[in-house]
Amino acid sequence: MMYVMSDPHTHPHSAPHVELATFPTPVEPAPRLAAAIGLGPDDLWIKRDDLTGLGGGGNKIRKLEWTVGAAFADGADTLVTTGAPQSNHARLTAAAGARLGLDVVLVLRGSPGASRSGNLALDGLFGARIAWAGEVDQAGLDRAAAEVCEQLRTAGGRPALIPFGGSSVLGARGYARCGEELRQELPDLRTAVVALGSGGTMAGLVTALGPDAVLGVDVGALPEPALAVREFAGLPTSEVLRVRRDQIGDGYGTLTTATAEALTLTARTAGLVLDPTYTGRAMAGLIAAVQDGDIRPGERTVFVHTGGLPGLFGHADAVTYAEGQVVPYEA
Ligand SMILES: Cc1ncc(COP(=O)(O)O)c(C=O)c1O
Repeated sequence: MMYVMSDPHTHPHSAPHVELATFPTPVEPAPRLAAAIGLGPDDLWIKRDDLTGLGGGGNKIRKLEWTVGAAFADGADTLVTTGAPQSNHARLTAAAGARLGLDVVLVLRGSPGASRSGNLALDGLFGARIAWAGEVDQAGLDRAAAEVCEQLRTAGGRPALIPFGGSSVLGARGYARCGEELRQELPDLRTAVVALGSGGTMAGLVTALGPDAVLGVDVGALPEPALAVREFAGLPTSEVLRVRRDQIGDGYGTLTTATAEALTLTARTAGLVLDPTYTGRAMAGLIAAVQDGDIRPGERTVFVHTGGLPGLFGHADAVTYAEGQVVPYEA
């Protein structure tokens, strides 16, 4: 059997859960990157959640263990979820379905042909079917997904709708576990920096580490992501969260100058690849936080690397930028 359901009698959390990833993920120091951005050599660490294992890795697997676990326990035969064409969550839902023997339908914003590389190419390999929703807003995407579920039910299927970005109260549990790993790995942690998209990742970290220890860098996926974080973490609207909104630039999916520079700097000082939409923005936010004193030398900071590498290859501007970084050798 390729999966493990947790035993509700012995597992500390009562909800069903499938094991899809390799935990705990490693934590590594990044002394050269730390020095390059004005921190001490021992100040900056990287939580390698890009190494979660399944389907190319990344943060979404931790959430899918819970959301797909619930679907599986309910007897679903098809996972349906929504996202942007280069959604990492959609790619990992496709991988989870493939591993568990469930069909997957991805309801994606846009139309076929705009881009077929990056995550979309992997969606194809994992055997997911794609329903293009056109240029719709979030409500339109949700309606299109509800329609697909209805069609599947009419045909005798048992679809389960996995929320946008895998984010929900249930999905956030996966990131509470990451926060617990971090507390063990870096007991004197002051700030965990993470990309903030649909909110579940930050919500789980906040649950485990407390609101003051998590800095979310908004990538521009939602109009008010802090509302989503509070909802998924079960916090009142009065709860103050640390969120930076200065890295959105011209909007979600665009390549900002600060993000491009963060990609190059991280690659050349840590040998790590970030992506243009999430982790590159998060690193640009970390660098900005050091510059304005929100993160200080002498404090222990962890950058949560949430994955997203396939998205680099699905982002035409990022590929052009990276190609432009090639340095010709001259004797
Ligand atoms: C690589 C990567 N990092 C970070 C995030 C943000 O996570 P969340 O949607 O839980 O806020 C996402 C999700 O969209 C992602 O794909």
